[in-house]
Amino acid sequence: MEYIAISGNNPLKGSVEISGAKNSAVAIIPAALLVGGICVIENLPVIEDVSNYITVLESIGVKCRYINPHALEIDARNIHTTSIAPDNLKNMRASYYLIGALLGRFRSAAVPMPGGCNFGARPIDLHVKGFEQLGAAVVQEHGAVRAEAESLVGTQIYLDVASVGATINIMMAAIYAEGTTIIENAAKEPHIVDCANFLNRCGANIKGAGTGVIRITGVQKLKGCTYAIIPDQIEAGTYMIAGAITGGSVTVRNVIPKHMEALSAKLSEVGCTVTAGDDWLKVTSNGKFNSCSLMTLYYPGFPTDLQPQMTALLTQAEGVSTVTEAVFDNRFQYVDHLMRLGVDIKIEGRTAIVRGPSHLTGTDVVATDLRAGAALIMAALVSKGVTRISNVHYIDRGYEKIEEKLRSLGANIRRVHEGDAPALMEA
Ligand code: UD1
Repeated sequence: MEYIAISGNNPLKGSVEISGAKNSAVAIIPAALLVGGICVIENLPVIEDVSNYITVLESIGVKCRYINPHALEIDARNIHTTSIAPDNLKNMRASYYLIGALLGRFRSAAVPMPGGCNFGARPIDLHVKGFEQLGAAVVQEHGAVRAEAESLVGTQIYLDVASVGATINIMMAAIYAEGTTIIENAAKEPHIVDCANFLNRCGANIKGAGTGVIRITGVQKLKGCTYAIIPDQIEAGTYMIAGAITGGSVTVRNVIPKHMEALSAKLSEVGCTVTAGDDWLKVTSNGKFNSCSLMTLYYPGFPTDLQPQMTALLTQAEGVSTVTEAVFDNRFQYVDHLMRLGVDIKIEGRTAIVRGPSHLTGTDVVATDLRAGAALIMAALVSKGVTRISNVHYIDRGYEKIEEKLRSLGANIRRVHEGDAPALMEA
């Protein structure tokens, strides 16, 4: 077994380079399947979701070659099947993009049902409805989604919920469709714009990405290109919160400060100082926080993927804070594990009531999903003694070299494989 061990209680200081965005990577890699040429994707994060994708792509005949650890060449000219075997997909939610990409290019896709982080029901009904409106027949059977179409024809598609996944997936399926597809109530997250920019660079005709209405006019052909993906908004946010919760001073570099506005505003509201440059943000804190109320929303609202980490921070705020999760119906599973460290949180429906400040003490905890793991790391950084976090594979899905980056900021953190000698000093 592998776990991350953290001995808390020292302020983090310094600067950290932010990797490319996980959620862009897991959309743009499958989007490259739409291209009958060679693409080079730069600024790719070194995370498990990316390596899993490469395994899947290679299994259907795509040639993938790393030019350097962060630049991948994808040659999807010779795909020999549109049917994906389940082996490497079970832990990757974003496998649903393979349906839109393969359907869009070959009019046929068979993809195992998406896995990934499990926080409540995560249906794909809006993706399926969109494919059907474009003219595909879609069945879900034996744990797989099968989509087939004689032809795909552009149409107007209204999303009941501004789903990130459905927006990107329908965009991909519509790339070669006849005429124009209009997605209304589209999601606006930065990685939607990133994926659209990549496809447009390859020759697609997508307008309006980043707004609530996206228009995709079908084209005949896409050609390869070189494209660098945007920095990871959630990774950046996690390090900003880490700096804040420890009463430290952390600069995140290679970020787009505009993408961080909801978090920067909240950190300022609770008493941190946030300063920004063109591509960096610095968070300074004295370790004392005001309570606040927080609600997750679609972009540009406060991202649900930073909710667990921010909740961990609010356990250190004076008084009562409320955190309302409005995007997913069950994203507080991690709270049970935070409680083991000594936090005072009560869940009422979709709201967590957080009383602070709590004095936390390290113990053994389990990451129940990717961002839950990040929240446990945040809390461990201010816990007395050693916290051991298991289920590290969840954290590796989305954070590149997390212990190395935190260590460079002064954290006492180590990855331990069962049998390793203990090397963490009690704080
Ligand atoms: C994406 C992100 C994830 C983030 C989430 C919300 C990726 C790979 N993942 O996930 O990190 O937490 O956006 O910002 O980009 N819904 C439906 N039917 C559907 C699809 C979604 O009802 O067909 C609902 C979901 O249950 C959820 C809400 O819509 O309540 C938002 O989900 P969605 O935006 O689709 O999230 P994901 O694409 O899964």
